[in-house]
Amino acid sequence: MPKAPLHIGMTLAPTWLSGEAWRRPDSAVEGLLGFDYYIDIARRAEAAKLDFVFRPDVMAVNMGLLGRGGGMGGLDPTLLLSAIAHATDRIGLLTTISTTFYPPYVLARMLMSLHWLSKGRAGWNIVTALDGQRNFSLRDMPGPEERYARAAEVTEIVTRLWDSFPRDAWAPDRDSGRFVDAEMVRPIAFEGQFHSVEGPLSVPSFGTGLNRIPLVQAGASETGRDFAARVADATFASTPDMEAAIDLRRDLRRRALAHGRPADAVRLMPGLSLYLAPTEAEARDLHRATHAAADTGRKLANIREMTGLDLTDWPQDRPIRAADLPPTPQRLRSRTHAALLRRAILRDEPTLAALLEMPEVAGSAHWQVIGTVGHAVDAIRTWQDAGAMDGFILFPGGSTGCMHLCLDGLCPALAEAGLLRREYAHATFAGHLAGPAP
Ligand SMILES: Cc1cc2nc3c(=O)[nH]c(=O)nc-3n(C[C@H](O)[C@H](O)[C@H](O)COP(=O)(O)O)c2cc1C
Repeated sequence: MPKAPLHIGMTLAPTWLSGEAWRRPDSAVEGLLGFDYYIDIARRAEAAKLDFVFRPDVMAVNMGLLGRGGGMGGLDPTLLLSAIAHATDRIGLLTTISTTFYPPYVLARMLMSLHWLSKGRAGWNIVTALDGQRNFSLRDMPGPEERYARAAEVTEIVTRLWDSFPRDAWAPDRDSGRFVDAEMVRPIAFEGQFHSVEGPLSVPSFGTGLNRIPLVQAGASETGRDFAARVADATFASTPDMEAAIDLRRDLRRRALAHGRPADAVRLMPGLSLYLAPTEAEARDLHRATHAAADTGRKLANIREMTGLDLTDWPQDRPIRAADLPPTPQRLRSRTHAALLRRAILRDEPTLAALLEMPEVAGSAHWQVIGTVGHAVDAIRTWQDAGAMDGFILFPGGSTGCMHLCLDGLCPALAEAGLLRREYAHATFAGHLAGPAP
């Protein structure tokens, strides 16, 4: 039996301008803080019938990267997506909002506002955040377990606030003069470990079922997986190889069952970094040119932060073996990324030169395809056949041309191969995610 089409999203973080790519004459980088730049991409993604466009977020500046590009978060994701809502009709709009920094009432109202303005197309990528604590009156970042405890509490408050003002309560009736059925609108009177929120929300819910706001989660530590399995519709993951994705998907399905949900309640969507060109050689050149000026010192600092291993004086051709790895550092920005790097070193025992090129170090540990549209279709089919994913998020790299090739070349080829829908069956984001797992 043919499998259901995949759930495919498109990033609106301009990964295709990373590294040296923004310096290309045709990069259009000057448009980055304007409306038209993103509308064009969102409309291409909608023409390709993708499930959603997605904007990750960081609320801090990385001073080390800022000067040469890469350290700037850019436009607020939810505001940006509400502008895109006006210029599109069907595509889902996945925003990222941190549960560590935002008051839950503000968060609930922002999301429900985007949901109304887009007629049911908002989605929430729940992150516990990596940086920015000093912009939010915190000297130190709370540890990962406290961040997840906050995430669980904030998510509960937000969903209860959404339920506090049911859609049916808002039924303006000119004849009787009743604007809202106030009986149906109830405070939530929430008293928790971190927050106390009276409610109700000041905006009605858009609805439940296919009209609800899908929850997506990112962070794959034990606690992160359990959180996703309990509440999320989907997980956005870093899975640099197929085995990592198969393991994670199997584990998420097992955990979902343990929480009394169907195994496919939480869909796995890895990031897919794509360097595509008409020939494989051109794609390799594109990748090489993009990373030509990559800062080795910064990569070594990242390796040290994630593993505790100082490779400053390590010969390029000397392998790194299990015995070289010190115990995992106590304080990690992302246990997910640290665990992936450790796993890659234990598995491959790479030389330093090879390690510096691995996606766990050179990128965000995402699955990567460098080649032609045909290569990408084959890789995607292989992963789907292996049960490694339920979809993925497109992260084009290298140039604006590559981004266009992903949306205007790869996506039609995926539809042709039965891996992507040809028409939208629903008008809401939850509708796009509904149905049997791919
Ligand atoms: C694939 C992926 C994407 C993420 N995207 C974001 C993001 O856009 N903004 C953010 O603040 N944190 C982001 N995070 C960080 C997570 O929310 C989380 O704080 C971090 O991974 C630590 O959780 P862990 O202990 O489960 O690894 C991301 C993490 C992963 C794995």
